[in-house]
Amino acid sequence: MKYHLNMKRITLILASLLALAIQPADARKQPKTQSKAHSVVAVPAIEKTLVTVETDHSQLVLVTDRKGTLYNYHYGAKLSAPEDFLRYETRINAGYGTGPMAYPTQGGAYVNEPALAVKYADSYRNTELRYLSHTQRAKGNVVTTEILLKDYVTELEVRLFYDAYQKEDVILAHAEIVNGGKQPVTLVNYASSAMVFDAEKYLLTHMYGDWAAEMQVDRELLTHDMKVIETKRGTQATQWNNPSFLLSLNTESFSETEGEVIAGSLAWSGNFRLSFEQDVTHRLTVLAGINPFSSDYPLAAGETFTTPEMIWTWSCRGAGQASRNLHAWARNYGVYGGDKVNPTLLNSWEGAYFSFTTKTLTDMIDDAAAMGLEMFVLDDGWFATKYPRDNDKQGLGDWELNTSKLPEGIDYVASYAHSKGLKFGIWIEPEMANPRSRLAEEHPDWIVRAPGREIVQRRNQWLLDLTNPAVQDFVYGVFDNTMQLSGKIDYIKWDCNRHVMNVGSDFLGAEQSRFYVDYVQGLYKVMRRVREKYPDTIVQCCSSGGSRVDYGSLKYFNEYWASDDTDAMERVRIQYGTSLYYPAGTIGSHVSDVPNHQTKNVTPLKFRFDIACSGRLGMELQPKNLSAEERALADRCIRSYKQYRDLVFGGDLYRLLSPYEGNYYALMYVAPDKSRAVVFTYCTNYLNRAIGAKRINLQGLDPDRRYKVTELNVDKSCYSGSGQAFSGGFLMNGGFNPVLFKTFDSAVFLLEGE
Ligand code: GLA
Repeated sequence: MKYHLNMKRITLILASLLALAIQPADARKQPKTQSKAHSVVAVPAIEKTLVTVETDHSQLVLVTDRKGTLYNYHYGAKLSAPEDFLRYETRINAGYGTGPMAYPTQGGAYVNEPALAVKYADSYRNTELRYLSHTQRAKGNVVTTEILLKDYVTELEVRLFYDAYQKEDVILAHAEIVNGGKQPVTLVNYASSAMVFDAEKYLLTHMYGDWAAEMQVDRELLTHDMKVIETKRGTQATQWNNPSFLLSLNTESFSETEGEVIAGSLAWSGNFRLSFEQDVTHRLTVLAGINPFSSDYPLAAGETFTTPEMIWTWSCRGAGQASRNLHAWARNYGVYGGDKVNPTLLNSWEGAYFSFTTKTLTDMIDDAAAMGLEMFVLDDGWFATKYPRDNDKQGLGDWELNTSKLPEGIDYVASYAHSKGLKFGIWIEPEMANPRSRLAEEHPDWIVRAPGREIVQRRNQWLLDLTNPAVQDFVYGVFDNTMQLSGKIDYIKWDCNRHVMNVGSDFLGAEQSRFYVDYVQGLYKVMRRVREKYPDTIVQCCSSGGSRVDYGSLKYFNEYWASDDTDAMERVRIQYGTSLYYPAGTIGSHVSDVPNHQTKNVTPLKFRFDIACSGRLGMELQPKNLSAEERALADRCIRSYKQYRDLVFGGDLYRLLSPYEGNYYALMYVAPDKSRAVVFTYCTNYLNRAIGAKRINLQGLDPDRRYKVTELNVDKSCYSGSGQAFSGGFLMNGGFNPVLFKTFDSAVFLLEGE
């Protein structure tokens, strides 16, 4: 869509530029060096300046005062006359701090948590940014605003960037911090973005979890003072929480459909920190960025530090719209290949683990092809010769083929898959080494370790020091060399099975505090090289399941493995939580065996399929263990999935019933033109026999259009209306009532507009 500048907008931009132009020249000049004589630097008053960052429905209003301090007065609905904020006074009592700073710094009258704190060469830590100029440029759907700020005493500059995605109502914010002085400085806090809200109440939704239980929902009404969501794990940053949140304003109850909701997500795959500080006036300042924990970052003279992007969206129609905004942005811009449908697959892990021969794999390929799956993925266990990778205690790091296990080679297996019409994928975990590996023996200096201290193992493995360019080359080489094993590798599953402990880098020497930041930047450097050479390879991001689920990694990865917990009932909460921020097409979601390998629970195959089909469908079991009846159901579910998966990948998500609020979970995906939809319904808990047919209000349909409703994968439907057509209005107002009352009852419905 083309971006149109309307007249009001042009006037505002011109007014801003004019304000800048009419400032006395010396008002924009800043003193060159910090005053040694302790004389106060006088900054002449400037005209107040207005900067608006707008999308189709939302607006961020930034205004300077006469000293040039930049304030954030509004992030919410689009206003007809934002310039009224030029006359707005917060009237805050100076003893309580400052107005709502757009990028608060340690210094001046600001006494709360700063976005930016800088330690200068003379050890002073005062920074007070003043507005110098701003520009706005439009490119297609995106309008970028760049605001230049500068400390009024030192030569420290900050450029604030806001990329406004018009159609999706998403704003990406990040900062560039420039050391324009002649001495090095140290960045102590260096957040990506700050947002300030003035509401009566703030209901925060955020995530917690663990291995095999990721993305559980936590919700709380924020009290005064500080709430922090952060990780210090370094890698596997999202195992215990996620750098994403929803903030419902002026309410104590969470709504999918009503009220103002802000969603935020930090695009960073390492230590992150989100802070929510509510002061005595109820003002809430949200800071999002790299966690400053143990990460004082040196910035040499002339150097620039670029923060990761913080993704913001605003909705006045509840959490559902906020999620849809993020998903639409992600599909169009945020996820590598996010507009494409990824293939269904059979993964070897839970079906074969480390014990396989070539025949095991070719048999699985035969079965996958017979069931209508589209790819076979060979998981862990195919490599290492000196210490063969026959279990998780050895071999990691030695990426040569284990020829005793697979004497015919990878190309043979990949070609076999291709000959059966399947794509072929393979697993790597390039950032790691088992202590029992040639790699660890040959390159002890590549291991993350602190001098004289025990290297703590996690899953029997050590972490490679990705801050070191030689290690970056090695890690890139693992990907590149694996791709050379066959010209028929279509997919790589990139795993990362441990976090950082007892941190230390031989490479960084005296600059250990760079580690957490440089590790992630090292990973991104590798991924950029990977993408340059392999633009079309599908790459899955896995980290013991969903421990690296963030928009920093999704820039390079097509999808991720949401959890090692494949129990369909457990997946309800994991996939529901994930759906708050990440689009369904990125959620690798597999049907596995029963009793489930993680939980030992037994769930019906139909329920397992119906859950897996609401994401990117796969299977992860030994197909030979399925009965003929189960095979027939599998065939049927896979076939019908292909009929509607364009909706899972590209439709708008409506969460209908939350698994946290009752005995049901229900969601649907609607085609952008509302011509089709697919509805997934599940009973997660038996209530009683009297429940009858559950009325579920569908959403997102055209109320006046008639939709033919068909339950898929069954001979006899649980909805009396299956096979008939109804108006969208009827279906959205109680007319849709499938009979689901026993635990594990589930149904999938296709809606086709007439
Ligand atoms: C991790 C992944 C699994 C599997 C194993 C292999 O646990 O999450 O899917 O790949 O590693 O070791």
